[in-house]
Amino acid sequence: MEQAILFTEDIVNTSQDFLNACDYDRLFVLTDEHTRNLALPLFPSSHLLNLADQITIGAGDVHKNMDSLVAVWQVLSRNGATRKSLLVNLGGGMITDLGGFAASAFKRGIRFVNIPTTLLGAVDAAVGGKTGINFNGLKNEIGVFNPAEGVLISTQFFSSLSRHELLSGYAEMLKHGLISNKDVYQKLLAYDFEYLSLTEMLRLLEESVKVKEHIVKIDPCEKGVRKALNLGHTVGHAFESLSHEQNSPVPHGFAVAWGLVCELLISHQKLQFPSAVISVFSRYVYDNYGAFPFSCDDYEHLYDLMTHDKKNEAGVINFTLLSEVGKPVINQTADKETVFIAFDLYRDLFRL
Ligand code: GLY
Repeated sequence: MEQAILFTEDIVNTSQDFLNACDYDRLFVLTDEHTRNLALPLFPSSHLLNLADQITIGAGDVHKNMDSLVAVWQVLSRNGATRKSLLVNLGGGMITDLGGFAASAFKRGIRFVNIPTTLLGAVDAAVGGKTGINFNGLKNEIGVFNPAEGVLISTQFFSSLSRHELLSGYAEMLKHGLISNKDVYQKLLAYDFEYLSLTEMLRLLEESVKVKEHIVKIDPCEKGVRKALNLGHTVGHAFESLSHEQNSPVPHGFAVAWGLVCELLISHQKLQFPSAVISVFSRYVYDNYGAFPFSCDDYEHLYDLMTHDKKNEAGVINFTLLSEVGKPVINQTADKETVFIAFDLYRDLFRL
């Protein structure tokens, strides 16, 4: 199913027009405690989003769970939602993932619209039909592929985001640049966060989301080419897990940025990805994201974390690698020695 993706500098009117064109009997809006206070007030009181039935759940990944899901279903059920009702998810990736899943299962599926309020949500989670919740200590363990009726993307929400939150989303854009082509990639490296322009960011974001949209159209359920979107995430998830175990959690996008560097180093060993590109990219990551600190004592554990990644098949670590910018190669594996050499090189590049 096609997913309408609109980019706008006027989210108030674009969303009003979009919702007016949707045929529904009751409208519901899902927010978390942050987006209820920060995003919803951007819409006037007469706007459809403010006239809709409101559902609010706790903010943060800890609330991406069964309890929040049940809370959403309870309001839908109590307030008479039918198969013709529409749920708008207004928030970051946690809200669009959870709301998308709640809608997909309620009465065997009602339609939903995503309005992402973070850069990470706009460039990744809200687009492409992955929905779900965390379960049993595992991220996104329960969920379905089901695209939103529409995704309405605006940078107007981003003025309340910290530089860290923006950088976290930007890492996914860098990933899209690396897997698409040199043009998109170079433009991203040239963008200067010191002189943040939301108009320029919207343009880059549109280009970046189109990369994902194109891939998802070909392979909506990640049987093949969609795996290209996993670049940087095998090592990135291991860094993220280690940081949680060490009680010093790093933002998802930061882990992805460092994971991208390591996976380019693996790509160099296995597919001759050019070292000159790695040195420029790792410099960019170091300057903007700093370094994820680890020592050779962590290598075995990081490798072990990678062997438990849910992207693996038949117990073999599954990587997406690159032979050059714009040329992803899916279903690759790398032995321990290759991964450890990448860790050594990463620590040299990041002066650890
Ligand atoms: N986050 C990668 C994907 O949506 O496939």
